[in-house]
Amino acid sequence: MERFAKIAAQAISAVLGREITPADLETPPDPSMGDFGFPCFKLSKEFRKSPPEIAKHVVSEVKSRKLVPDWLSVNAAGAYVNFVVAADECMRALLKDMLSGDGLNTSLGTYGMLPAGTRGTWVLEYSSPNIAKPLNIYHLRPTALGAALDRIGRYRGFNVVSINHLGDWGKQYGMLALAFRLFNRKIDDKLTMTELVDLYVKSNAAVDADPSLEAEARNAFLKLEQGDPEITALWKKCVEISIKEFNRIYQRLGVKFDHVWGESFYKDKLMPLIDDLKKRNLLELSEGAWVVRVKDEKENDLLPCIMQKSDGATIYATRDVAAAIYRHEKFNFDRMTYIVGAEQKLHFQQVFGVLRRMGLPWAGKCEHIPFGLYRFKDAKMSTRKGNFVTLEEVLALAKERVAELMLERAKDPDKPEAAHVAASDAICEAIAVGAVVFHDLHTDPVRDVEFEVDRVVDFEGETGPYLQYAHTRCKSILRKAHDVVGVPQCPAYDAALVMRLGAAEEIQLVRVLGRFPLHLERSLSFAKASQMAHYLIDLTKAFSCFYRECRVLSDDAELTLARLNLVEATRRVLARGLGLLGIPLPDRM
Ligand code: ARG
Repeated sequence: MERFAKIAAQAISAVLGREITPADLETPPDPSMGDFGFPCFKLSKEFRKSPPEIAKHVVSEVKSRKLVPDWLSVNAAGAYVNFVVAADECMRALLKDMLSGDGLNTSLGTYGMLPAGTRGTWVLEYSSPNIAKPLNIYHLRPTALGAALDRIGRYRGFNVVSINHLGDWGKQYGMLALAFRLFNRKIDDKLTMTELVDLYVKSNAAVDADPSLEAEARNAFLKLEQGDPEITALWKKCVEISIKEFNRIYQRLGVKFDHVWGESFYKDKLMPLIDDLKKRNLLELSEGAWVVRVKDEKENDLLPCIMQKSDGATIYATRDVAAAIYRHEKFNFDRMTYIVGAEQKLHFQQVFGVLRRMGLPWAGKCEHIPFGLYRFKDAKMSTRKGNFVTLEEVLALAKERVAELMLERAKDPDKPEAAHVAASDAICEAIAVGAVVFHDLHTDPVRDVEFEVDRVVDFEGETGPYLQYAHTRCKSILRKAHDVVGVPQCPAYDAALVMRLGAAEEIQLVRVLGRFPLHLERSLSFAKASQMAHYLIDLTKAFSCFYRECRVLSDDAELTLARLNLVEATRRVLARGLGLLGIPLPDRM
């Protein structure tokens, strides 16, 4: 569809005398309205015509000047210029794209892929938990979304640099040092994350009871900043325990970073930054602290950004400014995206404001993508004190429920695989991870995630397991075709055969398959993996319609092969799409 969109965009450009790109085209919600549409609203003022008049004008020009090939029809619908690719052309061109490439080798194909490194450098920061605390379910949001954008970005030709900006520096590590002294704990190999959390809670309580201890904690952090060996050793141990713990979960989620550069990574760059800001005359003294006055992009005043506190300690924002500058020097990025909770909106506005006041021309390339919280409907989770639910607990709950569900399914004689699945830890794990991750990604990042385990693992709803199941169904059709009809597992594209396809459900399915690259692109430009998640649901629905109405394996050998081509194309797009979202693909379900 991308190729078609380019032809359409060029035709509109020729009529309007300005550059229109495929990114300016929209995908109508229902493919029967067209494969893509060009909205004319924005042109109304300049052309002094109503949007529908402009649309009509564009259509008549495109037609009379024969700006598009015969197989691309164009019509005006209200304020839109809509394009429809003829079914034959869809079949020929799209299926060829989907089924060529290295499908046989990777079994996923390369449909929609763009050559590596052709689209500039994208620094993507995500996950970024604080050390000495377990990963909370809330951390799934930046982790799953970041990892999905990371994979999609690479697939679409960006040179992605992924960074996990661990919270490993700051006053709270002074608190831990205090706790070690108060409770007479020494570093040893028995130290665990659970104990670290416990020590942190206990030291907070101790400070509440005796506020004079606070100075000791603050002082301990200052000493850490100055490289005190004892406190540094303690801090290092906490980092080590935390990273090990995080990695165990990252591995379950299939998440890897190019760089794990926590806040501490920038510690040598903080004083030079303060000096630089002083030289540029940007620092002002406010209540004993050094601050930079900042505005947002619309020139509204924001709270000043503190860079150095009165006791000389730097803060979170200082490290973010230093980190941004370092990353730009190192990677000369075209875009830098921070996937961080909505509550840090002001923080990022301030940080970007400082970069702008420093006159750094690339400040506008930085963006903060916020996300919402988790809300639990399951009683077990929602009543928990402090609403602190770990990601591992949620995965365990989902896995337990998947195994139960599979045992229930196994009672149905039509579901011979279910008993096997229930007994397989690896498959239950894949389904549970797929369910939880998909549920998170499917929710628009800015909205809160409503979590209810039965809904999340349901095979019938708009869920991960529903998609995983559709994928295994495609596989089993192909397997059966292989065993019964003797066709290869991965039928090769055959131009003559696909011309046998023509049923409405077949054409609709091909059109939806054709939208895959557009949705990849949209996921990237809006930094929303929910775009891809919704697309995969639509695809699966289109596949179900096709499967319901069109018998794949029949006496008509040609038609069977043509339909198998369609099944294989669906399987590849589903597998690729799910893989990019980080949803594992169980073999059988
Ligand atoms: N560690 C922070 C937290 O858990 C998030 C870090 C976000 N990234 C950044 N560059 N500030 O709240």
